[in-house]
Amino acid sequence: MTLNPPHRLLMGPGPINADPRVLRAMSAPLVGQFDPVMTGYMNATQELYRGVFRTGNEATLLVDGTARAAIEAAVVSLVEPGDRVVVPVFGRFGHLLVEIARRAGATVETVEAPWGEVVDPQRVADAVRRHRPRLVAVVHGDTSTTMRQPLAEIGAVCAEHDALLYVDATASLGGNELHTDAWGLDVVTAGLQKCLGGPSGSAPTTLSDRARDAVRARRHVEEGLRTDEDEPRGAVIRSNYLDLAQILDYWGPRRLNHHTEATSMLYAAHECARVLLEEGLDDAVERHRVAGAAMLAGVRGLGLEVFGDTAHRMHNVVAVEVPDGVVADAVRAAMLDDFAIEIGTSFGPLHGRVWRIGTMGVNARKDAVLTTLAALEHVLRGLGVAVAAGGGVDAAQAVYAA
Ligand SMILES: Cc1ncc(COP(=O)(O)O)c(C=O)c1O
Repeated sequence: MTLNPPHRLLMGPGPINADPRVLRAMSAPLVGQFDPVMTGYMNATQELYRGVFRTGNEATLLVDGTARAAIEAAVVSLVEPGDRVVVPVFGRFGHLLVEIARRAGATVETVEAPWGEVVDPQRVADAVRRHRPRLVAVVHGDTSTTMRQPLAEIGAVCAEHDALLYVDATASLGGNELHTDAWGLDVVTAGLQKCLGGPSGSAPTTLSDRARDAVRARRHVEEGLRTDEDEPRGAVIRSNYLDLAQILDYWGPRRLNHHTEATSMLYAAHECARVLLEEGLDDAVERHRVAGAAMLAGVRGLGLEVFGDTAHRMHNVVAVEVPDGVVADAVRAAMLDDFAIEIGTSFGPLHGRVWRIGTMGVNARKDAVLTTLAALEHVLRGLGVAVAAGGGVDAAQAVYAA
């Protein structure tokens, strides 16, 4: 069977439509993984992502896999069984960090906030002082609730108490302010399929020198590659594929073989970063801010309620309360069938209670926002919901006009 996917406008919480430049880059010819051309591309990609992460970290690379692979690589490579880890939890992806840290053998202390709010950084600081963790692991933008956690204060308290700080920026990087070095973030990981405008399958990752040294202190080079200079040290990292010590050796000057770098995904990641940096990080964040503000105004202009503390909302996704009596999935199905527009629902307690509408990557643009609002109005009216005629598009246009 020939795969012939239909054209869709992907306005959910990610994945979104990939930038055509990224798709073109992915169709470039393959080269061998140790071809100097390829290793040159790897070096160039590292340099581009130092720009995207706003860091001078030498240890900046791609983990091959979806964003979750990099999350797991970071946690499993930093945490030894018995270590204490503090996790602020304000949505589904905080729970994921707890789950991964526990599987890595950590004793996890959570600091929880209700879904729709962020965690007060002061509470995280108190937890750090009380538990003296090896690691604080936190989500920046939790797409399950659309909340964006303030990070700078957490970075400062971690540095003060010698805890490492890991940040999942899968859904926020490129569309929201994120300053790896200035905020004192030790490890930050991402994915391509949100604000970076690519497909899922490659996970940009950066490690501070402190985090890199902590990982290297657990370096166990595989049998068959090991030489006399590769004396095993520290507690072995409990994953082979996601062992950042070996991945660092593969991306470092020795190019010690680990996996076979996913060439086409590297081309994609490279192009995502180029597109973003050509626009300029500040301008890209501002474009996401405006598109998100227009979508927020638009859904309110239709007379719909927005879920959660909008003061802490991510720029790139808005959670819209499903009006009473409306079947959330029926609206999503009509948006897809009649307009070829995908919007999302959420997980767990929010499933069927909210729609999540994303404006990110190439889709953080005016026509995508206005088309989605016009379609949503039409679908809701068809289901008998009293929406303000033209109210969504008008309100969004007003944001753009301002
Ligand atoms: C905040 C956050 N973390 C992690 C993930 C997992 O990413 P992936 O599906 O690429 O593994 C997602 C995906 O939606 C996400 O939004």
